[in-house]
Amino acid sequence: MTSDQLRQSFLDFFKSKQHAIVPSASLMPDAPNLLFTNAGMNQFVPYFLGERETPNPRIADTQKCIRAGGKHNDLEDVGLDTYHHTFFEMLGNWSIGDYFKKEAIEWAWELITEVWRFPVNRLYASVYQPGEGDPASFDQEAYDFWKAIFEKAGLDPEVHIVYGNKKDNFWMMGDTGPCGPCSELHVDLTPAGDTKGSLVNADSPYCIEIWNLVFIQFNATPEGDFVPLKAQHIDTGMGFERVAGILATTKNFTDFSSPPSNYNSDLFTTLFDHLTELSGHKYAATMPEDVDNVSELEMKDVIFRVLADHARCLSCAIADGILPGNEGRNYVLRRILRRAVMYGRKLGLENGFFSGLVPVVVAQLGHVFPELKKQKDVIQKIIKSEEDAFGRTLDRGIQLFEKIASDEGKISGNNAFTLYDTYGFPLDLTELMAKQKGISVDTNGFEAEMEKQRQRARASQKKTDILVADSDAPAEATKFIGFETLADEAELIDIVKGEDDSAYLVFNHTPFYAEMGGQVGDSGEINFDELHFDVLDTIKDPNGRHLHKVSGDVSALAIGSEANLIVDHSRRRGIERHHSATHILHWALRKVLGDHVHQAGSYVDEQRLRFDFSHFEAIKPDQLAEIERLCNQRILANSKVKWFETPFDEKPENVIAFFGEKYGNIVRVVDIGGFSVELCGGTHVRATGEIGLLKVASEAGIAAGTRRIEAISGNSLYSHLNDVESTLAAASKLLSAPTAELVKKIDTVLARNAELEKKFKSFQQKAAGNLADELLLSAKESNGLKLVTAKVEASDPNALRQLGANLIGKLGEGVVVLGAEVKGKVSVVAFSSQEAIKAGHKAGDIIRDLTAKLDGRGGGKPDFAMGGAANVSALEETLKAFPW
Ligand code: ALA
Repeated sequence: MTSDQLRQSFLDFFKSKQHAIVPSASLMPDAPNLLFTNAGMNQFVPYFLGERETPNPRIADTQKCIRAGGKHNDLEDVGLDTYHHTFFEMLGNWSIGDYFKKEAIEWAWELITEVWRFPVNRLYASVYQPGEGDPASFDQEAYDFWKAIFEKAGLDPEVHIVYGNKKDNFWMMGDTGPCGPCSELHVDLTPAGDTKGSLVNADSPYCIEIWNLVFIQFNATPEGDFVPLKAQHIDTGMGFERVAGILATTKNFTDFSSPPSNYNSDLFTTLFDHLTELSGHKYAATMPEDVDNVSELEMKDVIFRVLADHARCLSCAIADGILPGNEGRNYVLRRILRRAVMYGRKLGLENGFFSGLVPVVVAQLGHVFPELKKQKDVIQKIIKSEEDAFGRTLDRGIQLFEKIASDEGKISGNNAFTLYDTYGFPLDLTELMAKQKGISVDTNGFEAEMEKQRQRARASQKKTDILVADSDAPAEATKFIGFETLADEAELIDIVKGEDDSAYLVFNHTPFYAEMGGQVGDSGEINFDELHFDVLDTIKDPNGRHLHKVSGDVSALAIGSEANLIVDHSRRRGIERHHSATHILHWALRKVLGDHVHQAGSYVDEQRLRFDFSHFEAIKPDQLAEIERLCNQRILANSKVKWFETPFDEKPENVIAFFGEKYGNIVRVVDIGGFSVELCGGTHVRATGEIGLLKVASEAGIAAGTRRIEAISGNSLYSHLNDVESTLAAASKLLSAPTAELVKKIDTVLARNAELEKKFKSFQQKAAGNLADELLLSAKESNGLKLVTAKVEASDPNALRQLGANLIGKLGEGVVVLGAEVKGKVSVVAFSSQEAIKAGHKAGDIIRDLTAKLDGRGGGKPDFAMGGAANVSALEETLKAFPW
């Protein structure tokens, strides 16, 4: 059976049991506490918790999963064994409050033994038996169903049922969420197949788990409680690559002589074939005897496995819009990619090889996951640009690593940090390389260096460090009322002193927005009965209090006094324009460039906006024009902007949220005309027309895979246009042409200029020729050699040289020595013919002597030399005196 046939037969089987077959969910998880989708059940969590109605109580699919960098992290094992992957497909069937243990167990058995014909005597089922402190009780029900099954198959349940505690037989997606006891099916793949369960959960490639049947009964709460759910559900997960590997290795259970490996299935062999073509090496299916001491041959096979695994992982993640980057899940991808590139180097593969694996992955999986096909070019480009970026420092990084390793025999925290910071080596990559050399890495030292860097970054960002609060007022977050109003009365509740003698006032509520999420803080004024303060800026302290930075002496202020807080209205409106424009720009970028575009940072003030986002290449001029056009079209449509708060789980479906960010339970949604819906805490215009117009000022790359657009709108665009207009008006006056005719006029002027220049050059040449002829007449003769010396006019040393060259050409055998005053200094040249040189008149010597007499320096070859000097007044006399 090919892997395609296997997948299809799983889906067909559950279809025949009335399951709806659904597409895989995105690898971008829907839950904020996950790095990647890591199990088939992720997309069904709201059904399990009863938060949403399921359209079908029975569902089956194949789900793309990544287990790297999170609770379930298999990255370190990849390549070193034959059954762990960063990316894999999980085949699953689900019952949402419908069937339970009996059907789940019986159908699993039916598919495995009757459809796929696994030899029954090689199968083992595990049942949950809690250890000390573990939740719930022994899973008698599951035990009874398995017992009946094994007895019917003529097998001893005491041998074929094994027990596991919470670690092995209680499944949780993360630390919280739906969970429950589970039964796993394990297969004995030893040649004899008679290990009697002794290898179950013993980390042996000869006995691996292929299917996990989870009986979802509880919801794990953040407090550590397991609360029983209203309904019971089934959640199963089968390791597709494992089953495909078993069928391939055993040739459909006819031959158990070879060591089992997922990598024997066509899911990987197609990639291996490609790698063989590139590298000339063949996969030999060896396994490291000792993972701390991998031989060269074993290493080649490790590399084949790693590269095939990582190519699948990166391709599928990027197809779902998760790009390599510097933080969170994006950094996990970058680490995986850099690992692959480093391993590729070890195999002698050229830069760009890794992106070359993408078409192979797409050919293999594109019909199952259509987004791969759709995004193929984008995936390839993104991987290529990442490869190029890392490739630029990789070789030097490896050299440095080798040097440190041989000089010091270990990698200090400082050196690990240099490798990270200067050469882009993720810590785990350095650790991996160190492990391969049998040396240690000081990870604590590395962390300390990282912390220092974070502190430096913080210090450079925040110029004012908040020091002390004057009162013991409770540090509660300030209520912000500035979404609706820009002026209000409030009570002063605290005064905070800044480092630089500045003071910050805190009120019980405020219309002043405090800098956050890229939006600058408000300025304005605060009026007490007698005293008036300008607010220069507003920032937030760690407790969420809005700190109003004021100028002037605050010592006369009494806590508890009332004040009138007035935000600088026109500045705030300018900020809002740029903030809303940022959302519209984000929408347009995704529309024109693709869904891989994600915000990577932003800054908005009243003058402009700056938006950083993930994209792998420079935006082409026509794309940029289209982005700008779309933005302005939406602005002029004057769509309504709405904002509202909602529980995170009930946010609109199409909202762009940055998972991995810490969102509270209640989030704020900003909806611009229904087309741009983002989670955002900032302030916005009420309708897009307020923005006026948007103009992109610049587009540039700021880091690998990250670009930056700067744009202006509203008043600042208006003044910019005014500036442009005055420049045009000035130009039009100078050129005496109406602005509409300017380009034409400039064209004419430039053409005329070019013509004049040409003419001028030919005059110059002619004049030089004439001058040469004139000088020729003044030539003196001695001993058969002609001699010309003269002070002439020349615009620069080059012109002087040309004149000299012209002259010596016409002169025949002899010497030419010319001098000129160029910008207040002496410039001299000398040319000597062959006969003159023979007679001892070398140009180099002549110039050396001449410049020495004129307080300068010079020299050159026997036939030609140049020099410069200071003494302009003596030039003429000295030349006349030649030969001196
Ligand atoms: N959710 C279960 C797992 O991932 C099936 O193992």
